[in-house]
Amino acid sequence: MKPIYYPEPFRIKSVEPLRILTREEREEKIATAHYNVFALAAGDVYIIDLLTDSGTGAMSSAQWAGVMVGDESYAGADCYYKVQAAAKRVFGLPYVQLVHQGRAAEKVLLPILLEGKKYAIANMHFDTTRAHVELAGARAIDCVVPEALDTTAYYDFKGNMDLGRLEAYIRELGAENIGVIIMTVTNNSAGGQPVSIENLHAARDIAHRHGIKFMIDAARHAENAYFIKQREEAYKNSSIADIVREMFEGADCFTMSAKKDAIVNMGGLIGCRDRAIFELVKQRTISFEGFITYGGMSGRDIEALAVGLEEGIDENYLRYRIGQMQYLAGRLEEAGIPFQSPVGGHAVFVDAKKLLPHIPYYEFPAQALAIELYREAGIRACDIGSYMLGNDPDTGKQLEADFEFTRLAVPRRVYTQSHLDVIADALINIKERADAIKGYKIVEEPPILRHFTAKLAPLG
Ligand SMILES: Cc1ncc(COP(=O)(O)O)c(C=O)c1O
Repeated sequence: MKPIYYPEPFRIKSVEPLRILTREEREEKIATAHYNVFALAAGDVYIIDLLTDSGTGAMSSAQWAGVMVGDESYAGADCYYKVQAAAKRVFGLPYVQLVHQGRAAEKVLLPILLEGKKYAIANMHFDTTRAHVELAGARAIDCVVPEALDTTAYYDFKGNMDLGRLEAYIRELGAENIGVIIMTVTNNSAGGQPVSIENLHAARDIAHRHGIKFMIDAARHAENAYFIKQREEAYKNSSIADIVREMFEGADCFTMSAKKDAIVNMGGLIGCRDRAIFELVKQRTISFEGFITYGGMSGRDIEALAVGLEEGIDENYLRYRIGQMQYLAGRLEEAGIPFQSPVGGHAVFVDAKKLLPHIPYYEFPAQALAIELYREAGIRACDIGSYMLGNDPDTGKQLEADFEFTRLAVPRRVYTQSHLDVIADALINIKERADAIKGYKIVEEPPILRHFTAKLAPLG
């Protein structure tokens, strides 16, 4: 029997025309961009931009209506009270601070949690989280379950923390040296993979038993909750709203990039349970972001965020959203194109190491595949592999990543099923000529975060 996919639970009221480039034009554009997809003008991406799902979603008519009523008062704006009420309702933590995006939340909160500490341990740190742990003078340790590393093996919760290893780290490093244990939901770096409530609560209890703070990186809390409803027996009859509250039960704090599951183009939040931490958060927010009632955001964006927090946990929307990912993954599976399986919540992570086994990590197979997708169909994806990882800061030698993923991140409520078919068809065409695809070398690179601005050249 054919699986049932759920249609878009919305109709289209306003459209944004897309430019169509010929293959010759695309060849010229990618060469001029020195084979770096970040250097392409967005207008040169025909038709589908899968670079990120962050801040690229389409707002609803209710959100746009909110933009019109957003109160731009410097202090005590109406929208501030609305977003406070919405965030407290959704997450259940008593104190909430607005900031302008996820990394701003990290910049404000992590130095408070890590003061005088040496380590943060997470299921996996997102890049900016890792950067802010390091900027706070600590080291970031990843502790994901081993099942996440095998892209072909089915496992319900590949985002989970390896609890045995977590206990071992605490014994080895000393609980007094660990400032925070972080759960990233969903686990972006492992392929948008979900974390179960059982695992979240077990990690929280371990943290608390050792007197360590427990924090959730809530960028994709709603997608995570949907997977829990599908896969964790105890929650199959719970509402998404109740599952989200249960996920956050007992957490000391959270950071959130609202650009994902709150479906806004800009925004972030910090949540706290402890009043003393919240007082410090407010002080740092005033220094770095702006007065506490706007936190670096305009009133119109805050209003849209208050609406988006509720829309993001709507079950019909999530069924369609995850259904899109499963539809695309299903087409790739039929065609024998390898990806992190089962597919995660916000992207399909194509396993370029398996699709292009003749290209070694130091010739960047995932980047080669991203370039091929642009050549083939004007689709923009990105490398999450050795090209992104960069060089060892001590030896200057190219590091080898655990995964060579070409990430197809799908913006929320933006593309239709025919766009997904174009992506699948393009990959199928590429698979047919995979043997002939060559790797790349770097001809110019900055010392850090090189993937954004490096220049590359084709090999052979
Ligand atoms: C899991 C996770 N945490 C934090 C961030 C940082 O958020 P922002 O891009 O809003 O600064 C991201 C962004 O992609 C993310 O995926």
